[in-house]
Amino acid sequence: MSAEVINGLEVATKLRAEMKEKVAELKKEGIIPHLTVILVGDDPASKSYVSGKEKAAKEIGISSEVIRMNEKTTEQQLLDKIAELNENENVHGILVQLPLPSHINEDKVIEAIDPTKDVDGFHPVNVGKMMLGQETFLPCTPHGIIKLLEAKKIDLEGKHAVIIGRSNIVGKPMGQLLLNLNATVTYCHSRTKNLQEMTNLADILIVAVGKAHFINDSHVKDGAVVIDVGVNRIEDGTLTGDVNFDLVKEKASFITPVPRGVGPMTITMLMDNTIKAAMRLS
Ligand code: GUN
Repeated sequence: MSAEVINGLEVATKLRAEMKEKVAELKKEGIIPHLTVILVGDDPASKSYVSGKEKAAKEIGISSEVIRMNEKTTEQQLLDKIAELNENENVHGILVQLPLPSHINEDKVIEAIDPTKDVDGFHPVNVGKMMLGQETFLPCTPHGIIKLLEAKKIDLEGKHAVIIGRSNIVGKPMGQLLLNLNATVTYCHSRTKNLQEMTNLADILIVAVGKAHFINDSHVKDGAVVIDVGVNRIEDGTLTGDVNFDLVKEKASFITPVPRGVGPMTITMLMDNTIKAAMRLS
């Protein structure tokens, strides 16, 4: 069997077209959704993500700005900037690009963002609401993956989802969202023993490890749905996922490619959260 390749770009493009219409409606009411992104330092990957966000915002009609702060910015300077944006009623969404330089405490920064403007869904209040299944901003990558599974009508009820990775940005919230949708969830991580035994139990395998080609066909059950969250730059400069696509494609029922899989969905869900923030839905 050869898997259906899930085209994330296609799903994202469709969702963005719907969002563009919603933004046009809001504009008639005098509301222009506005996203402010703060970028501290000049990490090349972060710069590239931030320019992707600007491009998507422009495409949809969302107003966006990037505040670039020097690598040597102090924690207090960043907290002061966030306080100013919290007070500015023309700013609906605030995103501080991670990772931050090591002298800045990320937890403190995330907690400084007004939860009603936290379009990343990283603030403890929003993480708590998500755990309780309450309406709130959902973290963009896991939410985007749920949207991809929905778009392909992949049933989650009672299915065994195995997640490799336990970051606050992807792995942990991914498990929670799948649980909220009645999947049975197993978390695996770098200390997991017998990883291959675990992954072979997965109806849905979500891989967020950050290692090129970490997962191959021997990890995957026949007919599993495989979602690759990895973005790794290999020696020849090309981007590749955490999954050995060519091998796993022959065993899975659905698979996401890298690029054009999960990536376009993450940015799309950020735009969705910004629109929600402007509509004061959270
Ligand atoms: N760095 C990598 N992914 C993300 C994300 O989703 N949001 C933020 N703020 N920083 C990131």
